[in-house]
Amino acid sequence: MNVVITGKKGLLGSSLMSFLKEKKYNVVGVGRDDVCLDDLALTRRFFERIKPSIIIHTAALTNVEYCESNPDLTYKDNVITTQNIVNYCVESGVFLVYISSTGIYGDKKDTPYNEFDDVNPTTVHHLSKKHAEEIIIQHLSKFSILRTGWLFSSDASLNKNFIVNRLKEAKTSEEMYSDTEQIGNPTYVEDLVVQMEYIISNNVYGVYNCVNEGTASRFDYVYEILRGYGLEKKLKGISHESFQRNAKVSLNESAENFKLELLGINKMRSWRFALEDAISMIKNQGYE
Ligand SMILES: NC(=O)c1ccc[n+]([C@@H]2O[C@H](COP(=O)([O-])OP(=O)(O)OC[C@H]3O[C@@H](n4cnc5c(N)ncnc54)[C@H](OP(=O)(O)O)[C@@H]3O)[C@@H](O)[C@H]2O)c1
Repeated sequence: MNVVITGKKGLLGSSLMSFLKEKKYNVVGVGRDDVCLDDLALTRRFFERIKPSIIIHTAALTNVEYCESNPDLTYKDNVITTQNIVNYCVESGVFLVYISSTGIYGDKKDTPYNEFDDVNPTTVHHLSKKHAEEIIIQHLSKFSILRTGWLFSSDASLNKNFIVNRLKEAKTSEEMYSDTEQIGNPTYVEDLVVQMEYIISNNVYGVYNCVNEGTASRFDYVYEILRGYGLEKKLKGISHESFQRNAKVSLNESAENFKLELLGINKMRSWRFALEDAISMIKNQGYE
């Protein structure tokens, strides 16, 4: 089975590439250098050559602050690429899996969102994810949209590795500060890829929250990372108002895997156990 994964070098895309290869899928990764996904003709030609059975679209501009100041580029990278992929899926009937964000629910609740809540994005990035979702929902019947949370990886070689970056920060600072008010679901890419493989191998269509179980504040999350290295005393909790941000990210990005649970196919474990595993993997790569 040919699977195309966009965003092959990203936090999630790189992990998904390795996992599906191990599971003996025939995987073709797409990065910016391989095909210009914002060009309709080039995108169509690429997919017609590869003839995938499944497309997993993880590529996106993910820096929420950058997106807020660069809406045109954000809509090009996050919406137009999706539109072009959807176009091919309409013509070919290929199953599309799209990675979205629990951040799109916005700030209308202070408890975890489920899939029956409305979406009210509060940032350019999350609005772009909503527009991409809408294009998929309007045009396709064979799709799965997975709304995920604060991703972390155990691959220490990635620049964006949240655990390694917090460790480096702790080692070079007297004190560290973290937001005690914003909540979400830290989510391990190694768990997410297992859930994704279940979804593609069982043709599970629809819109699903897909996060590790349990909510955490940013402070709880960083505290648990630093605790893994005995550095937690350096961390001080502060209000979100102390951080200067352009993007008005919701204070509640938390969600529950309500539909996966109702279907009896929720494979996601507690974020605390997942984080422990990731820290231990990172220690094995020399980050003690
Ligand atoms: N990270 C999180 O905490 C989080 C939370 C919720 C949802 N998500 C969603 O999960 C997905 C994966 O996130 P991630 O953290 O793995 O992202 P990431 O590490 O930032 O990787 C995204 C990848 O997509 C590539 N890309 C962006 N635009 C592209 C384009 N037009 N053509 C080809 N490649 C392009 C990027 O390439 P460049 O590096 O060259 O730009 C990058 O390699 C995204 O859709 C994101 O919105 C992430």
